[in-house]
Amino acid sequence: MTLRFGVWAAVHGSRGALQDPDEPFDASWARNKKLVLEAEALGYDSALIAHHTANPYDDEWDQLEAWSAAAALAALTSRIEIITAIKPPLYHPVILAKMAQQIEHISQGRFAINLVNAWNRAEYDKAGITFAEHDQRYAYGREWIETVEALLRGERVSFKGQYFDISGFQLRPADPYRARPLIYVGGESAPAKDLVAAHGDVWFINGQPLENVRALIESVRARPRAGAPLRFGLSAFVIAGETTSAAAEAYEHLLALATKDAEIRARQKQNTDPAVVMKHTHTYSKTPIIGTNGGTFAGLVGSYDEVAARIDAFGQAGIELFMLQFQPFEAEMRRFAAEIFPRITAAAKTAAA
Ligand SMILES: Cc1cc2nc3c(=O)[nH]c(=O)nc-3n(C[C@H](O)[C@H](O)[C@H](O)COP(=O)(O)O)c2cc1C
Repeated sequence: MTLRFGVWAAVHGSRGALQDPDEPFDASWARNKKLVLEAEALGYDSALIAHHTANPYDDEWDQLEAWSAAAALAALTSRIEIITAIKPPLYHPVILAKMAQQIEHISQGRFAINLVNAWNRAEYDKAGITFAEHDQRYAYGREWIETVEALLRGERVSFKGQYFDISGFQLRPADPYRARPLIYVGGESAPAKDLVAAHGDVWFINGQPLENVRALIESVRARPRAGAPLRFGLSAFVIAGETTSAAAEAYEHLLALATKDAEIRARQKQNTDPAVVMKHTHTYSKTPIIGTNGGTFAGLVGSYDEVAARIDAFGQAGIELFMLQFQPFEAEMRRFAAEIFPRITAAAKTAAA
């Protein structure tokens, strides 16, 4: 299996500590454009553009708009996969499928959606959009993706469900590059697992230790599924250094900076739906976590060789795509490409020999 590496775009600024002199707040289009173009040039395979309409830490701060940015990035890049998250209640499935198909065309077959069913209540409440309870959000998301998937395949769709009533809608042009853009799903609850087994191509797992990841993969593989086997991606915050102690020092440095964010994090916690699984998983971590979506809980903190070996172990467990966070982002993304990419290639060659 070839491992792939991706970067989280800086859609709402830094992912670790929010007040870092080495990474001043910047969620601008200019920064994100440069970041993704550089990631592509360095050899990264994917860029993930998270979907938030307002900055989830503080709505006074800037937030990049995911779907317009994705279209522009698709036009500016030539090789990297552009994955864009989508929260179903924010777009009718016909409109979103049309946008996704257009970006698939702009990118010439490099576009993917990441279906996420939301945790930030404030984003919906302030807009006057109903923030349904957890499993109801998934029921809505399931109907939504069922129609989006069929539309992306170029089918003429008639669908009458609890939420949507579509009669004979068809998108043209269809996808000339493949059957349809890829569908990723982020979320760890039972309905998220059911949803990805039924309708996803790749399951994004929040960063966490190998044994958890193994169990999660197993529990999803046990679910009924038609078509190609499900693939797996893992989110992780990387702190890689020349030595184990250099990485530990960098971790402590970021942790000290992150303590300045206590008030912001507390507010964010208040806005988070308590039913969301990732909120609980991370409480099992013995050390404080840096980064979002599991962050350093995945354990990619250590010397270059240690980080490469852990990636290899996740790869053996079935993870194919590593969706990475760094801080300061650009400098550490370069370091990872320079130091870890060659070590992964070497490890893969040794395994194949
Ligand atoms: C890789 C990944 C990317 C995500 N991206 C977003 C995002 O862009 N916007 C968002 O609101 N939530 C995002 N989420 C969080 C999901 O919305 C969250 O996990 C969801 O509420 C599912 O809850 P569950 O784990 O209880 O199933 C992401 C999750 C993962 C794993």
